[in-house]
Amino acid sequence: MSKNVLVAYATKMGATASIAAAVGAELRAAGIQVDVHEIGAVQAVTPYDAVVLGSAIYQGCWLPEAVRFLRRHERQLRTRQVWLFHSGPIGAGRDEEQPVPPDVNRLARAFHAPPIKTFAGNLQADAVLHNHDLERLVGDSRDWRDIRTWSHHIATTLTTPEPAT
Ligand SMILES: Cc1cc2nc3c(=O)[nH]c(=O)nc-3n(C[C@H](O)[C@H](O)[C@H](O)COP(=O)(O)O)c2cc1C
Repeated sequence: MSKNVLVAYATKMGATASIAAAVGAELRAAGIQVDVHEIGAVQAVTPYDAVVLGSAIYQGCWLPEAVRFLRRHERQLRTRQVWLFHSGPIGAGRDEEQPVPPDVNRLARAFHAPPIKTFAGNLQADAVLHNHDLERLVGDSRDWRDIRTWSHHIATTLTTPEPAT
């Protein structure tokens, strides 16, 4: 039977929303039933077999609503397949894995989630007004191929029958 998957995201400027949409599209293309929602619109994870959750990174932290979501649904997420990603690095550092904030790391371990995936981000001019250090980094570093490859791996995991024991 096809799995039912939630792709939930926390964003300030929209880059993470587009990444979540691309993840959802790739899973759908593999025949998986997918809902893509901003975290604030999700009441429960119980209807889903698996959850993919992503947050933008600001000042080394996940957005608070993403951490709150993981805490609030911790018990249900422990019994589901969970994949986590964060979106942040830009410019010359776009390929650098970002450290996982300790609060997120503790929760990820509780869910037995695979290593958290770092996706390059998109820094918009509006987000860095009057910040001269960041202004020179404005630009879209998102790597759609990387996003598709990661999503494809999830789709394969979800659609491969588990061996009989
Ligand atoms: C003030 C500020 C702080 C940021 N801090 C980080 C950071 O600590 N690590 C990182 O990888 N990216 C950082 N970024 C880049 C954002 O995470 C990136 O632009 C991301 O794609 C934005 O996602 P969103 O559009 O979904 O909010 C920062 C951006 C701004 C404007």
